[in-house]
Amino acid sequence: MSQPVRAMAPNDGGMGFQPMRLRLAILASGSGTNLQAVLDQIAEGKLAADVAVVISNNSDSQALERARKVGIEAVHWSEKKAGSPAQFSSGLLEMLQHHRIDLVVLAGYMKLVPIEVVRAFHGRIINIHPALLPKYGGPGFYGMRVHEAVIAAGEKQSGATVHFVDAEYDHGSVLMQREVPVLPNDTPATLRDRILAVEHELLPAAIAEFAAKYWQRPKSQEMHP
Ligand code: GAR
Repeated sequence: MSQPVRAMAPNDGGMGFQPMRLRLAILASGSGTNLQAVLDQIAEGKLAADVAVVISNNSDSQALERARKVGIEAVHWSEKKAGSPAQFSSGLLEMLQHHRIDLVVLAGYMKLVPIEVVRAFHGRIINIHPALLPKYGGPGFYGMRVHEAVIAAGEKQSGATVHFVDAEYDHGSVLMQREVPVLPNDTPATLRDRILAVEHELLPAAIAEFAAKYWQRPKSQEMHP
């Protein structure tokens, strides 16, 4: 019986067949713990993917440090650095195309992805958000502000969501979601930490889910022995 091309590719230098590995670009703005969770699962052989490049709008982001530490290209790229929104967008697109990225992962990325990039990578950009979308999403709901709003509203449940990215903040269809209880004595910081621990499992799981259900390597990128 022949192997399905979608699931297997001869990418091991001719020694046999290995499962295809997704090429990821990770965009992050802050501490990069979600990036680290993905890197750890790859290193432990639990996730068949490779992080080809890490891009941050923030030159001080620990995500850039984490990438450099393991020899992954780390790029500071922002509208300010690019000089204009149009140059930012075309530069980002060039980087993603240069690295032959299969999936763009927003892991704590606090900027809107330019529409040109959303269109070019339609269905191939995912974002992790620290709430149960569609609740507590959209402009203004990011990082700690999400947890402050959840507690202020007296919610008993919050959680984390990985969703496909479209032109609006926190808007595209949900790929995976996990609930997390809000406890009576929670502060925004304790809730954030409980949700972050779940995010660290959810994001790698969502990447694996994407690979299994939604991804087919374009014919032009298939490798032949
Ligand atoms: C995570 O909680 C992520 O869900 C959130 O920022 C944090 C980044 O943490 N993202 C958003 O709020 C996007 N709307 P990290 O830098 O340690 O991965």
